[in-house]
Amino acid sequence: MPPIRRKNLRQATMKTKILSDKKTEDIKFASDIIKSGGLVAFATETVYGLGADATNPDAVKKIFEAKGRPQDNPLIIHLSSPEEAEKYAYTSELYYKIADVFMPGPITVILPKKETIPDIVTGGLNSVAVRVPGYKKALEFIEMCKVPIAAPSANLSGSPSPTCFEHVKSDMDGRIDAILSGDISEIGVESTVVKITEENSVIICRPGGVTLEELKELIGEAHLDKSVTENFDGKPISPGMKYKHYAPKNKVFLLSGSEDEIVKFLKNKTNFVVICFDEDEKIMNTSKFISIGAKNDYKNQAHRLFDVLRKTDEIKGIDTIYARMPQKDGMGLAVLNRLLKAAAFETVELGGFAEV
Ligand code: TXA
Ligand code: MG
Repeated sequence: MPPIRRKNLRQATMKTKILSDKKTEDIKFASDIIKSGGLVAFATETVYGLGADATNPDAVKKIFEAKGRPQDNPLIIHLSSPEEAEKYAYTSELYYKIADVFMPGPITVILPKKETIPDIVTGGLNSVAVRVPGYKKALEFIEMCKVPIAAPSANLSGSPSPTCFEHVKSDMDGRIDAILSGDISEIGVESTVVKITEENSVIICRPGGVTLEELKELIGEAHLDKSVTENFDGKPISPGMKYKHYAPKNKVFLLSGSEDEIVKFLKNKTNFVVICFDEDEKIMNTSKFISIGAKNDYKNQAHRLFDVLRKTDEIKGIDTIYARMPQKDGMGLAVLNRLLKAAAFETVELGGFAEV
């Protein structure tokens, strides 16, 4: 797993303007910044994005510098409607089938790219990822910009994605032109990234707000790219999946086993915090902990995950984070994928998956 790479990180020397998406004049101001080639962070229902005019290579270059992001990791373009994709990509019947049900919403579709999108956006790939966010204020902002918005998550590369204004400010203050502050991200993990293959099937490259089960229900078949749950040596479809991600300052390990097995395992350990579930009373009685929500409430777990990971940075006197293995179904898969990546796939097998 490559280490966090922030070689090209820009110094935090700019004055970052704080705007609010509750004020139309602020959204307008933010869209003017985009039109003149600047960077604006904005709220979406998944996580906050760091936007630039996707048709302006110089503006897009600044995104990579502000995040310290490797240039081979392509960006998603954000559009105000599914039909807008016609200008930038070759769509298909299957694209519209997915779009009709899940857009606007937490899904991103990878399509063959048209010349209208510069290579810097797609890391030189011949495909482009398109997304229509569900958060109304994001749509308003994109519409006002009148250009597609290239936007990765608005965190420093390698850090947990931002789900509120404070997270963005802490990573991006001084590095970007403005933050358009909005609601806390409702979903809390990034969009589900799917690729439509030449054979017209769907592969999930990154699980998110739209689940594998929901996609299967709509189109009959959908597959998971290996990189979602395995630390394999091959090439993931989404270049971003090969990088270490979502890492808090302390080392993370995932614990697979029952609550009793975990309590026993932790008995002789020191300087750690456990990310556990609301029901884990035995863990709570014996260890320093942060609960991520009820065991079966995957939506709440996803909503809180990145904030919980960031909060562990503030805990004094720890050097290790142990996290309980989440469930693999529904949105649990997105939580599992982010924790596996935060842990660089380091798991401790004490038993099976967390019992329900
Ligand atoms: O919810 C989200 O998707 C958020 C918000 C801001 O929209 N954005 C986001 O962007 O998570 P980012 O850049 O952090 O993650 C985009 C992922 C990366 O893993 C990238 O490699 C993949 O999508 N990706 C983008 N374009 C691609 C392409 N043409 N082919 C394969 N993977 C692509
Ligand atoms: Mg990201």
